[in-house]
Amino acid sequence: MVDFHVYADTEELSQAAARLFADLSHKAHDLRGRFIVALSGGSTPRRLFEILATPQFAEMIQWDSVVVFWGDDRAVGPDHEWSNYKLAHESLLAHVPIPKEYIVRIRGELGAAKAAEVMLEELRHVFGDESLPRFDLIIQGMGGDGHTASLFPGTDDLNATDWVVPVFDPPADPKVDRVTLSFPVLNQARVALFLAAGADKRDKISEIMNDPSASERYPAARLEAEKTFWYVDEAAFAGLSGVEKNPSNTA
Ligand code: 6PG
Repeated sequence: MVDFHVYADTEELSQAAARLFADLSHKAHDLRGRFIVALSGGSTPRRLFEILATPQFAEMIQWDSVVVFWGDDRAVGPDHEWSNYKLAHESLLAHVPIPKEYIVRIRGELGAAKAAEVMLEELRHVFGDESLPRFDLIIQGMGGDGHTASLFPGTDDLNATDWVVPVFDPPADPKVDRVTLSFPVLNQARVALFLAAGADKRDKISEIMNDPSASERYPAARLEAEKTFWYVDEAAFAGLSGVEKNPSNTA
């Protein structure tokens, strides 16, 4: 099931995303005692992370039962400006009472191949014997080429079946190796939440909404979790047909 929701701007989109994060965390905590998420990089989630760190939201979320992974990261250290971990650490994780051992970052400083191996071990540790990890929530972005996580158009990585994939020499900016969760893992998530803002996303969002063959071109359109939400802003939507604006965002 894929649901598109349109918000006036990044602020409204991020507030709605924070409410969804909090709701899902409560449900997961009640049902399974923990809330396992994968965060993304990109510029769009920064405001969501900042809102989650505000006292209002920080108090709503039981951070000691939240386990944080990343859907992808660059093969750089945690202090590098390209690190997706660094973004989330500075805007969110440094400000909430999440136990350090529940922050499972991709160890990019080890290089993509080794970091992917270590991440696989960490996933097996957290998810135990499950045949595929089942995240409660994965937060996703879509790049200008339609990539999501570090799964790029036209690459063999799109068909990978390993849980974690090292991505060498990606067709991406910055041109640095990466580590990503594979489609089988991403699609196994209970909820995927895409955040897309800005007019440069509009054409692709229109194709994804209206053209079933978009999934052949854009990895982001191939991702379908049990529930998949696209939260887009007016600039990315700009009059596209077939979208109900601001529907309730219950998951
Ligand atoms: C990455 C990011 C990437 C990002 C999109 C959207 O590691 O390259 O995770 O997939 O999510 O490029 O980025 P914006 O939010 O900046 O549009």
